Amino acid sequence: MSVIIAPSVLSLDYSDTASQLKELNASGAEWMHYDVMDGCFVPNISFGPDILKAFCRASDLYKDVHLMVQDPSYYADVFMKAGADLITFHYEALEPQKILPLVQKIHDNGKKAGISIKPGTSTEVLKPYLNDFDLFLIMSVEPGFGGQSFHMEATEKIAQLRKMIQEAGSTALIEVDGGINQETAALCRQAGVDVLVAGSYVFKRDIHKAVESLR
Ligand code: DX5
Ligand code: ZN
Repeated sequence: MSVIIAPSVLSLDYSDTASQLKELNASGAEWMHYDVMDGCFVPNISFGPDILKAFCRASDLYKDVHLMVQDPSYYADVFMKAGADLITFHYEALEPQKILPLVQKIHDNGKKAGISIKPGTSTEVLKPYLNDFDLFLIMSVEPGFGGQSFHMEATEKIAQLRKMIQEAGSTALIEVDGGINQETAALCRQAGVDVLVAGSYVFKRDIHKAVESLR
């Protein structure tokens, strides 16, 4: 399977939004990665549901919503209504007994569900859920900000997860997010990643060329 590219609009140039979105639509990228930050789960605030609604009007790209919030059960509803296709929440944000009910709610709404782990969280915690999620997101930087350097341990985590998923007979995708550029993308592809998120690397140059260079 060829890799899916998901540019993170956190790094979009908001002084030139319309033309950036046009360029993104024509770039060949399959997904739009949309980072939601609440200022509590992470020390930064990004955007709410109205911007996602506007982006849905401006772009047909698949909306990959990454919730970095303390209350993902509440915000999953908000962002599903706003047009998300996939909702990914953090393992660290929820008590374990609330994880599967939230997956169920997301699936009941006809959407895909993902779970993410921070750099300090082991892939072992995902073992009970290998057949419950559509996507597993490995954070290769501490969530909260674009433009950080890739943590090399992420490639090992991708390889571990690839093996775990295969052994469980799951068809879930593996996504990586943070510090992705041409070099780190190649390492992640070798390790078995399916979806590459890239923010600053994509939006600080010609978007089409940047997307192509990640494949
Ligand atoms: C970080 C976000 C990322 C961010 C990645 O918390 O989850 O999606 O946009 O940005 P880069 O690619 O610049 O590291
Ligand atoms: Zn993200």
